[in-house]
Amino acid sequence: MSKQILITGGAGYIGSHTTVSLLEAGHEVVIIDNLSNSSIESINRIQLITGKSPIFIEGDIRDTDLLDRIFTKFNIEAVLHFAGLKAVGESVEDPIKYYSNNVCGSLSLFQAMAKADVFRLVFSSSATVYGEPDNMPISEDFLTGTPTNPYGKTKLVVEQIIADLVQADRRWSIASLRYFNPVGAHPSGLIGEDPQGIPNNLLPYISRVAIGELAELSVFGNDYATPDGTGIRDYIHVVDLAKGHLKSLHAIFHKTGMYIWNLGTGKGYSVLEMIAAFEKASGKSIAYRIAPRRAGDIAECWANPSKAAEELLWEAELGLDDMMIDTWRWQSSNPQGYDS
Ligand code: NAD
Ligand code: WQD
Repeated sequence: MSKQILITGGAGYIGSHTTVSLLEAGHEVVIIDNLSNSSIESINRIQLITGKSPIFIEGDIRDTDLLDRIFTKFNIEAVLHFAGLKAVGESVEDPIKYYSNNVCGSLSLFQAMAKADVFRLVFSSSATVYGEPDNMPISEDFLTGTPTNPYGKTKLVVEQIIADLVQADRRWSIASLRYFNPVGAHPSGLIGEDPQGIPNNLLPYISRVAIGELAELSVFGNDYATPDGTGIRDYIHVVDLAKGHLKSLHAIFHKTGMYIWNLGTGKGYSVLEMIAAFEKASGKSIAYRIAPRRAGDIAECWANPSKAAEELLWEAELGLDDMMIDTWRWQSSNPQGYDS
């Protein structure tokens, strides 16, 4: 009987790119997604890119009966867990929604996995769990901090639950991947990030200015202690991130315990550098104005990615130009995202 990988949130931005990587590597994939922040069209596009079809189940990971049915029907050998909500501002306004989706959802999944004797898991964590470290770059042995918003706290809580799980039962084998700032799109231009409403994140916002849907970008603060005064982040191409998942999945296959890996490039770019790089790649001029700092933002954040390089033999290969060219290809050929 063939085996499958279950991908929660596989219709979403990072999950869809990772599904492509898994299908291309010969894995069979079952996706569960409630489409609360994604479109079924992404599944059709995955098929167009790979010539293969993931099995798609529309449903919520908090539906424990549905999870039990999935684990009974399929021969799941590992789970990649992307499903969750990620809008920082919304999490401040509606913390219950975030703790319910991200924490209760994860608990429901872990319970169903244990019941089905499936103990391999790759979890989507975030660099936000480091809080505001004193030094850069950030290594995995830095203490976790206090995230400034409920979204970030849900990631930290789930990491703590995972640490307790592996202590309690030695059969668990879990990778917690701390992403830095995922950007870019598949080079086919068929799948990419499709935020609903006004984007919160920098590059989706810049892209919407470029297609004329938004008038100008607000640069949140130019008085940080950075070379040009604007915030610095470690932007990582989503295709590199997807490959990092594949390597992590293979790495945990014959181990047990909890493994934390940073997935970043090790390079930081400022907001102004990002605008200039996007303008170069797209040939579009981006109108912007300097605005006050955004609450909860930190001045700089970039990874020391050497642990993943040594232990997973994974390194980000794509640079800033690829991130910008691929973002622009996706945005310009799908101006309304999957509704285009
Ligand atoms: P996304 O919103 O595009 O994808 C998440 C998917 O999960 C969506 O398709 C959504 O419909 C689905 N979903 C949400 N709640 C669900 C539920 N209860 N049951 C079933 N499906 C549900 O987001 P993404 O950018 O692809 O992020 C994937 C994961 O990575 C998330 O857990 C996110 O918190 C984490 N992460 C993202 C970033 C980032 O900047 N994109 C950074 C760090 C961590
Ligand atoms: C990047 C830089 C902004 C928008 C967030 C979450 C984090 C993770 C990734 C996961 C900062 C500046 C932004 C704009 C701007 N989420 N900016 N104008 O804040 O590093 O991380 O997304 O799921 O948990 O906190 O990413 O893209 O919002 O901001 O000047 O309109 O761009 O101040 O310096 P951030 P971002």
